This record gives sequence, structure tokens and C-alpha cells, in this order.
Amino acid sequence: MTVTQEKQDRKITTKSAAFFEAVKTRRSNYNITNESPLTNEQLQEIIEQAVLHTPTAFNSQTSRAILIVDKEKNDQIWEIVKKRFIESLIDKNMQAFWSNHIDNSFKAGYGTVIFFEDQNIIKQFASEKLQYAQEIPIWSGESSAMLQYIVWSALTVEGYGASLQHFAGYTPHVKADINDFLEIPKHWKNTAMMPFGLKNGPPGHPGATKQFGPIEDRTRFIFKDNDTVV
Ligand SMILES: Cc1cc2nc3c(=O)[nH]c(=O)nc-3n(C[C@H](O)[C@H](O)[C@H](O)COP(=O)(O)O)c2cc1C
Repeated sequence: MTVTQEKQDRKITTKSAAFFEAVKTRRSNYNITNESPLTNEQLQEIIEQAVLHTPTAFNSQTSRAILIVDKEKNDQIWEIVKKRFIESLIDKNMQAFWSNHIDNSFKAGYGTVIFFEDQNIIKQFASEKLQYAQEIPIWSGESSAMLQYIVWSALTVEGYGASLQHFAGYTPHVKADINDFLEIPKHWKNTAMMPFGLKNGPPGHPGATKQFGPIEDRTRFIFKDNDTVV
């Protein structure tokens, strides 16, 4: 067992143990069903709490989230993604692969959380805080990622499997069509989509084991000379 493996498996002994169990349990799960251990109202509560309490730069509150748990609408959303993404691919094998993957790993779920950033607020803050103007869109993206992570982790604790998808980022028609379909204003920029459902198998892609590079290469600990690094 490598040091890294020991460290991966180590149980934290502090009060944050339960938190870190959730952190470790969260994975990309593509094996999901359209069942739900929670009611839609409970899911709504999770999304609302996550949006309220995720930090944003200058408390700008740029993140937006839409929860879709209506099966018909969820199916339609993933049909939009499939149509638009597949028409952007030339290779027929890739088209077949993605059609299958979108149907079985995303559309097959119970619902989808779609994350957005309000571009009007970002522009307003950037114009008011000129010194940070270039950073403000980046900070908004970082905050959106925090929100995504909180929702992903909360869904994990509740027994769901979920994954994070970015079709709208690299397929402009996906972005535009989803906003049109949901009647969302154009200044809500789609940053990510999180399909989720009851976990129905191991995380990750079939046959792939998650690899961890040595933690020693990725961290530094600055202690006083006579302290021990464990
Ligand atoms: C910023 C970011 C973007 C990601 N984009 C995608 C994506 O578009 N599609 C996908 O299937 N997974 C995506 N992932 C998931 C990663 O591939 C995954 O988290 C990583 O391989 C570790 O696996 P785990 O989530 O099972 O721990 C993304 C993750 C992050 C943090």
C-alpha cells in the first residue's frame, strides 16, 4: 500500500469526519435511475439552501440554479442536448456513443440541476469595481463551481448518484436552446448541468478506477521546525 493509498483511506479523527466522508463518497456517477429517495419539496430545499449559503465574491449572488424533476421536461432537455451535441460531431461512431451515453447516463436519471451565472450582475459589479473588473467573471465562475459542488455533495449524502456536464459550454446551440425551452433570460449563462438519480452501480466510467497522484507532490506544510509532519 502506498503512502497515498493509506492517506486516501485514512479516517479523519476530527469533528469534520462526517463532512469528509461525504467529500470522499461524492463521485461522478453515470449509473442512475429515475427514482428518488427524497420528495421534490425536499430537493427544492436542498437547492435553495445551497444557493443561499454558497459564498460569492462581494456577496454578489451571481449564481442561479434550476431544478427539473418533471420527467417529460427532463427528457426534453436531454433530447435538446443530444440533438445539438450530436449534430456537432462528424464521426458516426462518436455520434452513436454519445447518443447512448446521454440516454443511459443523463436522461435516465430522476432530474437535472442546471446552473447559471447572471451576466447582468457580473457586468454591474465589474463596472462598479473597476480594480477587480477582470477578476469578477472568474470569481463568479468559481462561486458557481462551489455551488455545484455543494449540491453534488448534498445529493450524494442523500443517496443519489450525479455527474457534472458541460455541453452548453462547448455547444452554443445547447446553451441557446435550453434557455429558450425553459424561458430563461439570455443573461442567465448556462455553466453546468447535473443529472442525478438513485445510484444504480459503481461510480466512474465502466472498468475505470479513479487514480490519485501522490499527495506529497501536490501539498506543502509549513510547520515550526520542531513540529512533526504526520
Ligand atoms: C470543473 C469540472 C468539469 C468537469 N466536467 C465534466 C464533464 O463535462 N463531463 C463529465 O462527465 N465529468 C466532468 N467532470 C467530472 C470529472 O471528470 C471528475 O470529477 C473527475 O474525473 C474525478 O472523478 P470523480 O468525480 O468520480 O471523483 C468535471 C469536473 C470538474 C471539477
